[in-house]
Amino acid sequence: MSQYETPLFTGLLEHIKKNPIQFHIPGHKKGAGMDEQFRSFIGENALAIDLINIGPLDDLHQPKGMIKRAQELAAEAFGADYTFFSVQGTSGAIMTMVMSVVGPGDKIIVPRNVHKSVMSAIVFSGATPIFVHPEIDKELGISHGITPEAVEAALKQHPDAKGVLVINPTYFGIAGDLKRIVDIAHAYGVPVLVDEAHGVHIHFHEDLPLSAMQAGADMAATSVHKLGGSMTQSSILNVKEGLVSAKRVQAILSMLTTTSTSYLLLASLDVARKRLATEGHELAEQAIRLANETRKQINDIDYLYCVGKEILGTEATFDYDPTKLIISVKELGLTGYDVEKWLRERYNIEVELSDLYNILCIITPGDTEQETNVLVDALRHLSNEFRHQAEVGKKAEVILPDIPVLALTPRDAFYAETEVVPFDESAGRIIAEFVMVYPPGIPIFIPGEIITEENLNYIRKNIEVGLPVQGPEDDTLRTLRVIKEHQK
Ligand SMILES: Cc1ncc(COP(=O)(O)O)c(C=O)c1O
Repeated sequence: MSQYETPLFTGLLEHIKKNPIQFHIPGHKKGAGMDEQFRSFIGENALAIDLINIGPLDDLHQPKGMIKRAQELAAEAFGADYTFFSVQGTSGAIMTMVMSVVGPGDKIIVPRNVHKSVMSAIVFSGATPIFVHPEIDKELGISHGITPEAVEAALKQHPDAKGVLVINPTYFGIAGDLKRIVDIAHAYGVPVLVDEAHGVHIHFHEDLPLSAMQAGADMAATSVHKLGGSMTQSSILNVKEGLVSAKRVQAILSMLTTTSTSYLLLASLDVARKRLATEGHELAEQAIRLANETRKQINDIDYLYCVGKEILGTEATFDYDPTKLIISVKELGLTGYDVEKWLRERYNIEVELSDLYNILCIITPGDTEQETNVLVDALRHLSNEFRHQAEVGKKAEVILPDIPVLALTPRDAFYAETEVVPFDESAGRIIAEFVMVYPPGIPIFIPGEIITEENLNYIRKNIEVGLPVQGPEDDTLRTLRVIKEHQK
């Protein structure tokens, strides 16, 4: 089989060409039984391949035909022994990865700035997280990855850990020395699980950080939908056998996956793999070039800073992905969220994310100079409009959340007897729910942690500027759910 083939997509096309009479779900039957406005908007082609696992179309839960062949081609393209398709986002792939190495009471070494799906898997499995503190960038107000030294120290203290989880690269495109982390963990016989949500393209260009499979990691949850050209919610899980078992991974993935898998999503993974494998280098080259030109133009604008290779050189900033434009706006005396709104209202521009100090824009093969020129013009206008307050911005202090102490395992806290207390009176209590800003979805609190006044202030600050704080049952955040403390 060649990387130019698309067994899954082609198989679907051959199936619909026969125009079978369908007495199976989905009940919209090629769109005929569906809202007319939606049908004509989506189009007949999309609805014709919105099918499920009938005989000729294989089954993601036990692939033997065209899905199996599509996954094998993906494994070859990504340098894995096995690739599993996920129709439940990278979150589904991450939960599978974690739950295939840990069970109740097992230890797993994880950075504290993990995506919520990692913590959900820890709650479901009953594992104990051993947190490694990520390196904090006090200038930008963001956290990077973890260092090989920190992983080694954690493994020395916990040689019985069942896995080490690494985020590589981070949402902001910063990568640590993954190869060294893998070598250290493997010396302890411990598998390395990589959250590669923001790195599907890095495997295909030598100027981008090393991919999980290139670094010798055991598993990687890789968002094809984020930067690899497949449809939203479709993702892959790459596996190298040895320290982990592909059969166990398949079993857990199946336990966590819908039985009604979307063939639109699956086919989009098949064609995205073909494009990455056959044109990925050229496409990445194009995106890197455009991003670098844009970065240079942004750095010529007063009071704005777009991060480049000068960020490299620490153990946690070993490499970076230049297609991510991290733009620090704090010198203008504005928050990232202010700028997000300003760009939306004035220029109809939507950024990837904003936080208290930055905006993040991503450049992909889907962009051209036409779009980046609008961004640069808009940022010039922004800088001119707010230059009068730049002195305030220069003095602004960067605040970051504390890493709270974990008093109970996340699972024990999640299932404990709880009560609701006013947000302002919750410091010192053990929290029973997650609190995070999404995006990026990194928890400020996870169940089991002791609430600190510093982090309450950090949450207040995020709410005050309008950033989307999520997680608690009470979405007004006037109260928090905490572990009940019994009075004697
Ligand atoms: C670092 C990281 N990991 C995992 C995920 C989850 O990916 P998905 O949205 O595909 O479930 C995200 C999503 O934003 C992420 O930023």
